[in-house]
Amino acid sequence: MPLTGLECKDLKMVIFGGKGGVGKTSCAVACAIGLARKFKTLVISTDPAHSISDSLEQEIGFRLQPVRNVANLTAIEISADKAFQDFKKEHEAELIKLFDTSTNFDDEDIQQMMSLSIPGIDEVMSFKTIIDLIEENNYEKYVVDTAPTGHALRLLSSPVLLDEWIKMAAKMRWKYRYMIESFSGEYKDDEADVMLLNLKKTVKRIAVLLGNSEKCEFIPVCIPEDMAIMETQRLLKELRNFRISSHQLILNNVMESDESGFCRQRKAAQRKYIDKVHELFNELQVVIVPLFPDEIKGVTALKTLMQVLFDEHKELNREVK
Ligand SMILES: Nc1ncnc2c1ncn2[C@@H]1O[C@H](COP(=O)(O)OP(=O)(O)OP(=O)(O)O)[C@@H](O)[C@H]1O
Ligand SMILES: [Mg+2]
Repeated sequence: MPLTGLECKDLKMVIFGGKGGVGKTSCAVACAIGLARKFKTLVISTDPAHSISDSLEQEIGFRLQPVRNVANLTAIEISADKAFQDFKKEHEAELIKLFDTSTNFDDEDIQQMMSLSIPGIDEVMSFKTIIDLIEENNYEKYVVDTAPTGHALRLLSSPVLLDEWIKMAAKMRWKYRYMIESFSGEYKDDEADVMLLNLKKTVKRIAVLLGNSEKCEFIPVCIPEDMAIMETQRLLKELRNFRISSHQLILNNVMESDESGFCRQRKAAQRKYIDKVHELFNELQVVIVPLFPDEIKGVTALKTLMQVLFDEHKELNREVK
């Protein structure tokens, strides 16, 4: 069974996630290479480890880079930390005003607050970078590679966390607003209010995109091992909580060869986990990806993986179902 539905015109964003080391980056980049055959595609890494550079054997970094030897494919590695530092630099005056007018903090307290992170904001800023790219509409498909589960969940829950913070900040502002109104008779929104409102809009845009099953799909990547399966269960539960759509799962590193005693033993050991995946995740289509003899690195190897994901690899033994 290949990946399905990704060519649907409305589907804009495909997010890959899963346990550490299961093949998220390889599958995300291979999928992007497949989509780039028909669509102008951008592959985005939100992983602080920035592994799409390694996967593609090309330095990418925090800027749009055409991928060498793949027409129609561009890549970027987003840094949550940099996105947050840029936000702080751009909105320093508004943040100081917010803390200054809403609390009893002195200058030292405010400096301390400024050096702390606002919960969820760095990830929201990563997401904002993605949403801005999507809204610029220069690409037809956006493929997102995430860091292992915990980080991906932080990314997905960041709008909720930041929304809580905005509500709390807005509440503090109401007191300030009330005081100004009582003394001077009127209150006009200042730059701190405008910043809060814009943050609120960003959070909303992210939530709307993530919750739109026609525009956004999450593809969990798993391997036939117990711990990876348990982590996938938790991941899927969270995705359901966040109302993020997921209708297929990649089961990677499946041993297909019978050539040696070692291969046969590995294959037998994987069997029960493959059955377990089909059983536990029976509402999802399972896309089987074999264990390759070599690591998947560079465009040529990624194209072979792409052929498996899009079911165009004829020589492989496809008996594992
Ligand atoms: N089907 C496969 N056969 C052989 N090697 C594979 C396969 N899938 C992935 N690999 C290799 O496994 C390693 C981990 O893959 P990858 O970096 O894609 O995983 P990841 O889930 O993104 O890891 P991380 O959690 O560190 O981001 C890489 O060296 C990759 O080449
Ligand atoms: Mg990775």
